[in-house]
Amino acid sequence: MEKIKIEKLLEAAILAPSGDNTQPWRLSVANDYSGLTLYNLPDKDYSYYNYQQVASYISHGAVIENITIAARYLGLSANVELFPNPTNPHQVANIYFADQEQVIDPLYEAIFSRSTNRFKYQPAKSTIYDLNLLADSIKTVPEVCSHFATSSNIIKKLAIAFMINDSLVFECQEIHEFLFKQIRWNQKQIAEHSDGMPVDALGLHWIEKLMFPLMRFWRFVVFANYFGLSKVVGLKCWYNLHDVPIIGMLCVKNSDRTGFIHAGRAMQLVWLEATRQGLDFQPIIGLPLLFYRSKREPLNILPEKRQKQILQAETNLRNLFDINFSEDLLIGFRIGKAIKKSIKTPRNISNLKDYRSLN
Ligand SMILES: Cc1cc2nc3c(=O)[nH]c(=O)nc-3n(C[C@H](O)[C@H](O)[C@H](O)COP(=O)(O)O)c2cc1C
Repeated sequence: MEKIKIEKLLEAAILAPSGDNTQPWRLSVANDYSGLTLYNLPDKDYSYYNYQQVASYISHGAVIENITIAARYLGLSANVELFPNPTNPHQVANIYFADQEQVIDPLYEAIFSRSTNRFKYQPAKSTIYDLNLLADSIKTVPEVCSHFATSSNIIKKLAIAFMINDSLVFECQEIHEFLFKQIRWNQKQIAEHSDGMPVDALGLHWIEKLMFPLMRFWRFVVFANYFGLSKVVGLKCWYNLHDVPIIGMLCVKNSDRTGFIHAGRAMQLVWLEATRQGLDFQPIIGLPLLFYRSKREPLNILPEKRQKQILQAETNLRNLFDINFSEDLLIGFRIGKAIKKSIKTPRNISNLKDYRSLN
């Protein structure tokens, strides 16, 4: 295969989303460019949410989906072998390419324009979307189920159930510390790190932007919480959700590493389809990741009251989406048309030069 094609595939691959833009991957290319291997870098995302690498596997699913779509566009088939090496759990996938007829997938262009938009979305009535195409986009992915809520009544209730997601960041030092480590405050930091989130990608109002630099100090947060900071943050989450056109949830039948990769592929497909329709998208995954963790160990770093609220939030979300117990909730998201354009997050492009042998 030509080198130029593998370069295009790598370019598409690393545009995938990842938790706080940690980019927990390394891609290595076969000497003859006939395939590539995707590795997990567990040290990149050590956040409380990334328990058992679930968030990273979701991200790897998105990487694989980008590669698959780009391969078809370049006239290649991509044969994906998940966790091919029993002696190396970090080897997430081998992907082998072969020539085939070019398929002009309309999602290809969206790989390059997709982003997370955290600004307020316009109310549902002024947004045009094709729900069938969004739902159909994930049909090829095995063992992942999608649930979409569009009724304003249900959306209002879902907004309340999700509120706790953002409050927790300002109530738990470990969660707070990791998030703020990933924030890039200026162009110099963006260029230096090539990862993390520029402060302008957080969808802050100018008044919030004035306060935000102080919020990186845990002592200030503790002080401000006496005046209701974490509650205000929860209210903002509710405000951003309560009148959106669509809130969705992707669920897995099997909560194992293969299931998480499939869920990541499905997330990327819905996200790209939304982008293709000119819509904006924000994942809300922190809370579902805590559902997963709470089933395996107590969430001891959180106050007991919050642990109970997390359990209650899961029950509420299950009821509102009408999801039965054969499925585990994993990836929440909102879709709509944002009032402002999102800005691009940086990527570490060293992988593009990192041509190592598959073996
Ligand atoms: C597993 C995973 C979890 C995420 N969780 C959230 C979330 O809870 N809230 C949010 O605003 N963005 C979330 N994101 C979006 C990432 O922060 C975003 O993809 C990353 O910063 C890169 O930016 P981009 O999507 O604009 O390319 C998540 C992404 C992934 C893959």
